[in-house]
Amino acid sequence: MSASLSRPRVGVWLIGARGSVATTVVTGCAAIAAGLHPPTGMVTETAAFTGSGLPALPDLVFGGHDTLDCPLPKRAESLTAGGVLPPGVATAVNAELAAVDREIRPGGPAPGDTRGETELITAFADDLRDFLHRHELERAVVVNVASTEPASPGPDGPLPASTLYALAALRAGCPYVNFTPSEGMHHPVAAREAERGGLPHAGRDGKTGQTLLRAVLGPMFAQRTLTVRAWSGTNLLGGGDGAALADPAAAAAKNAGKERVLADTLGTVPQGEVHIDDVPALGDWKTAWDHIAFDGFLGTRMILQTIWQGCDSALAAPLVLDLARLTARAHEAGMSGPLGALGFYFKDPVGDGPSGLAQQYEELVRFGRRLGEADGGDRGTRAVRDTEETGGAR
Ligand SMILES: NC(=O)c1ccc[n+]([C@@H]2O[C@H](COP(=O)([O-])OP(=O)(O)OC[C@H]3O[C@@H](n4cnc5c(N)ncnc54)[C@H](O)[C@@H]3O)[C@@H](O)[C@H]2O)c1
Repeated sequence: MSASLSRPRVGVWLIGARGSVATTVVTGCAAIAAGLHPPTGMVTETAAFTGSGLPALPDLVFGGHDTLDCPLPKRAESLTAGGVLPPGVATAVNAELAAVDREIRPGGPAPGDTRGETELITAFADDLRDFLHRHELERAVVVNVASTEPASPGPDGPLPASTLYALAALRAGCPYVNFTPSEGMHHPVAAREAERGGLPHAGRDGKTGQTLLRAVLGPMFAQRTLTVRAWSGTNLLGGGDGAALADPAAAAAKNAGKERVLADTLGTVPQGEVHIDDVPALGDWKTAWDHIAFDGFLGTRMILQTIWQGCDSALAAPLVLDLARLTARAHEAGMSGPLGALGFYFKDPVGDGPSGLAQQYEELVRFGRRLGEADGGDRGTRAVRDTEETGGAR
């Protein structure tokens, strides 16, 4: 991607760099930067963020880790065949995809990998430093978009891969975003290191469909004082994410985040469960059905049903680009710790900020304003840590 002259380029290091979300991020960024498509779905491209000092899309340099070795242009081809990417776009940005492909390093632990935790962290951190050095980047944001892991065995078990990558990010001095429900920086070992590391981080699990709708509808029921008796949901999806979530332990990690928004917006946990079914034939297209049983005036019983039919990676990619830009700028502005003001983007946000989407949006816009007021590039001289106003560590 050809860079602008005025601002330094910024790295975006994707864990799971050959996955559907990552491939859509890279293809989409190149297509928007080339003027082939408008930035639909990118909140950071709206007028509210023009003064925030965010890195421009052509200034983003991508790399990453993956345990697969399928070339990125081939992944983009299969996403085009599946209708995720519009025809012609992957071909138009083939050179950019090939360039990013050369920046993807083997992830881990791969089957048969005999390296221990320390060796893996060191190898991942070395890859990151090498990327920063070769591209002469002041910073790179590490974004986890790898397959969802089963819930971790607890603080005394082996560290999950997502946490090894989070520790590598800290070691290489990189801010970190967890777009998945995996433990990552939430693991106590990484959380302790993060406190010492003085780096901003955000998470977790992107809010792209069913939970996005819940974050809008939950406040509506609460504000109209309608009593929600039960809220049940079923998701049908395929693709790599569908296959990973067919594992009940991985699905449990995902569903915990989906249920949190109801507890937070309604103030109580209604009856009902969330189910995720893997339907490989659907590919990246997800159908989410919600059935909400509620009581109105004099206890009159009513039902709301919603059907969300979305293309998962097309919903996720603009959020990943927004998060990378906002987190890079927060790092440049000297912020550290969990970025609670980014709760707008997550199912299970850090801190105890608002859970309704409208208030989360307001908080995000305030955060964008604070980013604009902070010094550019003069890291550390103007720490912006006012927890209330910036949504920093809470
Ligand atoms: N698409 C959405 O709407 C959405 C929303 C929220 C969260 N997410 C999360 O984003 C993640 C990615 O989704 P996807 O659809 O791209 O999945 P995907 O299966 O297409 O891609 C995941 C990639 O991660 C790689 N990977 C697995 N283990 C790894 C490891 N240890 N190191 C490095 N790479 C590894 C896989 O090889 C694969 O290329 C999932 O965890 C999903 O739950 C997606």
